[in-house]
Amino acid sequence: MTLLKIAQFGHPVLLRRADPVDNVACDTIQTLIDDMIETMMEAGGVGIAAPQVYRSLRMFVVKRVDLAEDSDLDSPPMVLINPTLDLLGDDMVSGFEGCLSIKGMRGLVPRRQAVRYEGMDRNGEPLSGEAQGFFARVLQHEYDHLDGILYPARLRDWRHMAADAEVQRLSDYLQPTQ
Ligand code: NI
Repeated sequence: MTLLKIAQFGHPVLLRRADPVDNVACDTIQTLIDDMIETMMEAGGVGIAAPQVYRSLRMFVVKRVDLAEDSDLDSPPMVLINPTLDLLGDDMVSGFEGCLSIKGMRGLVPRRQAVRYEGMDRNGEPLSGEAQGFFARVLQHEYDHLDGILYPARLRDWRHMAADAEVQRLSDYLQPTQ
């Protein structure tokens, strides 16, 4: 497996709509999946989308932050290929999120509380389910990458962005209005 270089914001690969994956079984895609997982783990992310490693393809990997036990974080990440995402209900939740393509920063992003996802796993088998809370947030963030959307575009106010070291201070400052 290979550690991949992660595109940083400003690179056009992060701004375009990615193309569908048409042959999941091929070695190129299987190797890319393994490399994306290793790259995400090494970088300490909870998810990474193919455009972030300069491959404009509709696929991402996410850690299983939906599973209850901390030890489940060591479960194999979920691989979702050619996904669709349905936003469920009207409930929105604001939370700070970061991105491996926007180093050193966090932003307070409103996201839908619940989503339904559908797509293929790495074997080309159908994969679908519902997600809530933080896992739903991660899925919305990664899905946005496939459409060329970075989280700052989802902020309610540009002042809701902070350097990592100032997130707590900003969060405290904004508390009354959250
Ligand atoms: Ni990201």
